[in-house]
Amino acid sequence: MNIILVGFMGSGKSSTAKFMARNYRFRFVDTDRLIEKKVGMTVREIFETKGENFFRSVEKDIICDSLVFCSNCVIATGGGFPCYFDNMKRLKKVGWVFYLELGFEIIISRVKNKTHRPLLDNIKEARSLYEHRIECYKEAHFVINASKTTKEVAEEIILKINS
Ligand code: S3P
Repeated sequence: MNIILVGFMGSGKSSTAKFMARNYRFRFVDTDRLIEKKVGMTVREIFETKGENFFRSVEKDIICDSLVFCSNCVIATGGGFPCYFDNMKRLKKVGWVFYLELGFEIIISRVKNKTHRPLLDNIKEARSLYEHRIECYKEAHFVINASKTTKEVAEEIILKINS
């Protein structure tokens, strides 16, 4: 059984996934790292040299290249992952999908000094992206309030899959 974390940039997907891998014996998978490894560039370099469409196409292929082979994994996805093509539908077949829901202001305060995310370069555009994506994220199997501590978020996820 796999757990898949979706949500906007800075909502805590990677830290929650790492915590769960450490404390609950899941295997940690991060889709951005898989993409970087496959392409041989950082996410920012891919956006800047090959463009976002290329990134989205590699992102989509990660499902059948890698994610379908996961077993007992906790998978942190990139913020846009479930919102392109029929990725959400396909992710829901790979495991239980959890949306880490967090307000835009908190997200911005969390990510403000991190420069590796090209889609956060312009805050106004990022807000509009955030608003557009809410509908998509809500198609997850579960919605979790991500304003709590990493440990609390992880415990809530475990509670949901055990009930
Ligand atoms: C993106 C989110 C990023 C990364 C890329 C695009 C997005 O991942 O995949 O910069 O479209 O929201 P994180 O959510 O892990 O920052």
